[in-house]
Amino acid sequence: MTTERTLSIIKPDGVKKNVIGKIIDTFESNHLTVIAAKLVQLTQNEAEGFYAVHKARPFFGELVQFMVSGPVLLMVLEGPDAIAKNRELMGATNPANAAEGTIRKRFSASIGENTVHGSDAPETAKTEIAWFFAENELFTR
Ligand code: CMP
Repeated sequence: MTTERTLSIIKPDGVKKNVIGKIIDTFESNHLTVIAAKLVQLTQNEAEGFYAVHKARPFFGELVQFMVSGPVLLMVLEGPDAIAKNRELMGATNPANAAEGTIRKRFSASIGENTVHGSDAPETAKTEIAWFFAENELFTR
């Protein structure tokens, strides 16, 4: 197993539902450690830049609008195979297809309001972490 870092976002619906603690408990119970965290309201530019890869998609406007609609919890998770592990714990993008017990199955209302984001590959993780965190904000233990 490789120790990896991944970007995790608890989206506005997760923050509003007051399930930050339950989600972090899921990570910590599965060998993922929070090494950085901040609760922020994203600007339009930050959200558009973060999701730039989806710019041509029909849902881009809706996605950005949702991501700036309330505070989000930005986190960096570290642990063995953190990228895949986080995605496994999140469940499928569309909560209707998410496995029993996953975060999206437990808390998400729709594919748009799907509670959490997680990086999908090592290169993306690196870029996404750097989009929101400076190196001196990461506290490896
Ligand atoms: P996320 O993992 O944050 O990455 C891109 C997001 O786009 C995804 O989660 C979904 O929330 C959102 N998304 C993907 N497909 C759709 C869709 N068909 N309609 C609305 N939002 C979508």
